[in-house]
Amino acid sequence: MRFGYFDDANREYVITRPDTPLPWINYLGMQNYFSLVSNTAGGYAFYQDARLRRITRYRYNNVPLDMGGRYLYLRDQANGEFWSPTWMPTRHNAEDYTCRHGLGYSLIGSAYRGIRADVRFFVPLDASLEIWDLAVENLSDTPRSLSLFSSVEFCLWDALDDATNFQRNLNIGEVEVEGSVIYHKTEYRERRDHFAYFACSEPLEGFETQREAFLGPYRGWENPQAVESDHTAHSLGVGWSPVGVHHLRLNLAPGSKQRVIFLLGYHENPLDDKFSPPDSQTIHKGTVTPIIKKYLDPVHVDQAFDALRAAWDDLLGVLQVGSPNEHVDRMVNIWNAYQCMVTFNLSRSASYFESGIGRGMGFRDSNQDLLGFVQMVPERARQRLLDLAATQLENGGAYHQYQPLTKRGNDAVGSNFNDDPAWLVLGAAAYLKETGDWDILEEPVPYENQPGTEAPLLEHLQRCIQYTLDRLGPHGLPLIGRADWNDCLNLNTFSDQPGESFQTTTNRDGKVAESVVIAALFIMAAKELSAINVHLGLADESDRLNHLAAGMTETVWEHGWDGDWFLRAYDHFGDVVGSKTCTEGKIFIEPQGLCAMAGVGIEEGLAGRALKAVENYLATEHGILLLQPAFKQYYLHLGEISSYPPGYKENASVFCHTNPWVMIAEAILGDGDRALDYYLRINPSQREEISDLHRCEPYVYAQTIAGTDSTSFGEAKNSWLTGTAAWNYVAITQWILGIRPEFDGLRVEPVLPHGWDGFQATRKFRGATYEIQVVRQGKGNALSLSVDGEPIKGTLIPAPTADKVAVKAVIG
Ligand code: GLC
Ligand code: GLC
Repeated sequence: MRFGYFDDANREYVITRPDTPLPWINYLGMQNYFSLVSNTAGGYAFYQDARLRRITRYRYNNVPLDMGGRYLYLRDQANGEFWSPTWMPTRHNAEDYTCRHGLGYSLIGSAYRGIRADVRFFVPLDASLEIWDLAVENLSDTPRSLSLFSSVEFCLWDALDDATNFQRNLNIGEVEVEGSVIYHKTEYRERRDHFAYFACSEPLEGFETQREAFLGPYRGWENPQAVESDHTAHSLGVGWSPVGVHHLRLNLAPGSKQRVIFLLGYHENPLDDKFSPPDSQTIHKGTVTPIIKKYLDPVHVDQAFDALRAAWDDLLGVLQVGSPNEHVDRMVNIWNAYQCMVTFNLSRSASYFESGIGRGMGFRDSNQDLLGFVQMVPERARQRLLDLAATQLENGGAYHQYQPLTKRGNDAVGSNFNDDPAWLVLGAAAYLKETGDWDILEEPVPYENQPGTEAPLLEHLQRCIQYTLDRLGPHGLPLIGRADWNDCLNLNTFSDQPGESFQTTTNRDGKVAESVVIAALFIMAAKELSAINVHLGLADESDRLNHLAAGMTETVWEHGWDGDWFLRAYDHFGDVVGSKTCTEGKIFIEPQGLCAMAGVGIEEGLAGRALKAVENYLATEHGILLLQPAFKQYYLHLGEISSYPPGYKENASVFCHTNPWVMIAEAILGDGDRALDYYLRINPSQREEISDLHRCEPYVYAQTIAGTDSTSFGEAKNSWLTGTAAWNYVAITQWILGIRPEFDGLRVEPVLPHGWDGFQATRKFRGATYEIQVVRQGKGNALSLSVDGEPIKGTLIPAPTADKVAVKAVIG
């Protein structure tokens, strides 16, 4: 069952009924100001940091679902009836409800008793505000007199404190109102230099800034007293809960339409110029007034919207494909790339599953996210890489997370996630392959953000490798530390205390627990760094790294192979994890995909056997399970992984992040049919048909789909902020379609399903535009390429010399 449809020409997903199984959300904002907006206008806004600069309140875990957002109310003066054009919060049976989630904007509207209202929400490219561009139209043949109310509930900035410290917070709220602008200035009189504002383009009938004055006691957003009575009391909120409510009157002749613009914004003043007059406590508004004036002007609003659309045309223009499969095209050309940008902007901080007060920027997560957005925003990827490297420790390890406002490592979470360093090498390699910007390796970067410790980025990468070498276990495999990629395989935690963090507790670190996953990552990282050294003319170092990769490969052969698949780990007691000798958790997905990607056992057939085992034991119609059989009890020596009920999350769900590793492995082994088949099983657009089961948005990936052991097999959770976005993008674009940036040029090496007769693509790469035409002529994967009409040897197209490059690949 579907709840809408894809409008590919407009790059929108159109939701046609408001009661989607879960709120289906979108993100507004690209630089500093961000908003989450659901299909019924729920959600919240913040400036840069979802915890520390939260602009509006949102209550997670609330009932009814998704109550709280950007709410508008229309009231028919003739009979007192009122409703919300975005369905929530009044939930009237509106006609023609639609929500068009587009790239950086959402358009939500409906009609009710002859009044059509549509509101377009977006954040302009270079302003710290969101625009609500409302159009109200009288479709009936009688004149209509309406009241219009807007509403937001302000957050007192620190979202965690706002939700906990009531003895203080119910006393600190402050606002100002001037004309049609409501200013939220809690704590501005003391240590803040910033305030929020909520402006309206029209003169007001009235306003409210105190929540209870608007809602009335013991009432909710679905029936505010002020709306019901059509009376606003001009409340000036001090303490309690500041809100912003505008009250307007609209008189619409039959067939006429009126546009009303609202702005919700954030502004900072210079510390020595906060007040006007200077000896007062009144906000100095001179710095923000021109911004408000500009964006209340409909001409500027339209220009800002066009500029936003043009910016997305540019970003997505880096790669556009035309293949025989609409789900491939739609995800590659629009939604998967879009989701990758959202993970760049938000990391794992704010979604409908991440509260914005928890995690900062993950070291491993951000390095992987980079694989999905580097081609769209290379300069910003460069900065991200340098920021990440600056949180590295001198021993080569890394803070597991850092805070976006300060860019400093998070002490509470600390280090010792032993896979982290390898991801920095893989992230840096991806950046170099895309850009050819070798100078970045010379860039001085500090350790732990300590001035005076600066060393070239290249040295940071070397220390990443050394970190693993300094931490090998009894079998010569890397020690796992607190966890590897799988944050929930906690082999040194041994936690029997409720509430203790599985990630940061180390009750036993006998220096025994080893990870085959880190071994595979190490091999990949060492090979990449070796190739980088070749480029730098450092042949000896390159050989040394290759030698290390070969050594680790042998170790995996010897101690990481279980007979039919790769082992997962050795635990604290030196016993195997992920082996046929185990009763539960016999086979894990991660080492099967990653070892093949690292090149372990490809020629010898081990990788092929491992993939066969994946097919036999882990593959389901809804994707590939993380492990089998699921853990049915809590194992002290395995940690969080066994804390989840069977079939959920790391305990044997389809953990979507890992599936593309198997797709890539299948492509490396030449099986395009199976690679694409696995790809389509979790492709959100392909799953649109089963939205009632899948439940999350059909236009973006979710982190997890409940597995066969669960009670809800096929149900997705944790949409949007997941490494799934980047890795699926890499799997389909670089390995199945085979358009792959490498250090020395662009490789075109598709591994296609047999049923495809080819595809075409446009790829911008290092300043040139490649027009790529792939044509199948036979059954196999053999390729012959010609560039600008000239046949070339192999599949690597050397660095471009012209603006346009025509590539033809004949496959079969
Ligand atoms: C989450 C984390 C990621 C981890 C994965 C597996 O997605 O953000 O860092 O690798 O879970 O545990
Ligand atoms: C929890 C989640 C896991 C995530 C981790 C991050 O353990 O299950 O997916 O990686 O938290 O701290």
